[in-house]
Amino acid sequence: MARDEFKVTPWEVSGKVDYDRLRELFGTSDLDPPLLERLERILGEPLPPLLSRGIYYSHRDLGWILDEYEKGNPFFLYTGRGPSGDVHLAHLIPFELSAYLQRRLGVEMWVQVTDDEKFLFRSDLSLAETRRLGEENLLDLLAPGFDPRKTHILFDTVSIRHLYPLALEVARRITFSTAKAVFGFTNQNNIGSIFFTAIQSVPCFLPSQIAHRPIPCLIPCGIDQDPHFRLTRDIAESMGYPKPALLHNRFLAGLGGEGKMSSSANRKDDAIYLNDPPGEVERKIGKAFTGGRATVEEQRRLGANPEICSVWNLWRSRFAPDEGEFQEITRTCRSGELLCGDCKARIIPRIQSFLAEHRERREKVRAWLPSAIVGADEDPATRP
Ligand code: TRP
Repeated sequence: MARDEFKVTPWEVSGKVDYDRLRELFGTSDLDPPLLERLERILGEPLPPLLSRGIYYSHRDLGWILDEYEKGNPFFLYTGRGPSGDVHLAHLIPFELSAYLQRRLGVEMWVQVTDDEKFLFRSDLSLAETRRLGEENLLDLLAPGFDPRKTHILFDTVSIRHLYPLALEVARRITFSTAKAVFGFTNQNNIGSIFFTAIQSVPCFLPSQIAHRPIPCLIPCGIDQDPHFRLTRDIAESMGYPKPALLHNRFLAGLGGEGKMSSSANRKDDAIYLNDPPGEVERKIGKAFTGGRATVEEQRRLGANPEICSVWNLWRSRFAPDEGEFQEITRTCRSGELLCGDCKARIIPRIQSFLAEHRERREKVRAWLPSAIVGADEDPATRP
């Protein structure tokens, strides 16, 4: 791969991602200031960092979602997770945004856990393993604070009888040649993986089917998931449902400094896991890639570069919610007043206490999780 090349598919992200180029390639729209201002008016308070600092940067049809909302036709939220390992900070981003939107606007939330997907795409994982991970992961993903009465979980292998009829409707409308063109499948892919996108489409339509009326759907997700929903949008109207709208986030930079925060086996130190003990946080941040200079003298003289710094990206996403503090960190980083060692020493306890609080919130999810899984009460034998 040439230096400025990159690849983004739902199953692989590599190279240095050019986000503007990606938006052009995918044909999505810029989440621009006028739209953000409109969103802020509707939310009735200053936007949270995920929206105000460009982490969510692209969308499809958000303006329409807001039109409908203002007409008294609120949307539901939909996001998901393929359980292939423990949850790290980057995985939490769409769930944090969703929890925030649910709190502010009182909307319904649908979560899909694709234990089937990870089984099909990861030959090293058994189905028992992806199901176990799915259950564990849900505790983390729901910890940001969802309303149990308005949160519904589609756990694919458990909820399948609720998903399957719509999945068939979707699957009949997508040809193999389209799936190949969109996802790059070859004759070597197993046949389950070719069908899978139909399953990921279903939650866009299921709430409308249940309510017997079209309900707008808004999907906060990493931009890598957009290809699935491009297909969903192409067929939605022929199925009698509105096209889902999307809000796309950038990837959280890995601590190694390249690409997205990754959980690949050889890059365990690249991510902060939600179950990392305090010592691990200290160790990982200690060796994290920064935008600093080779020597203190040079840094004092020339300043550092926050844009490429994995630690600054953590400040930006979550650990400096106060705008004044965030600006101060950014300014003193650029000017050379703030040295990387001091910056790291400042963020470590923030991350440690975030994780400690997260674990408390996670435990509280246990009480309501089983009753939120669609279909889990029907046949106890199918529980994960
Ligand atoms: N395919 C996603 C993953 O690998 C999981 C997923 C299912 C999802 N439905 C979604 C992600 C909707 C975002 C939005 O993690």
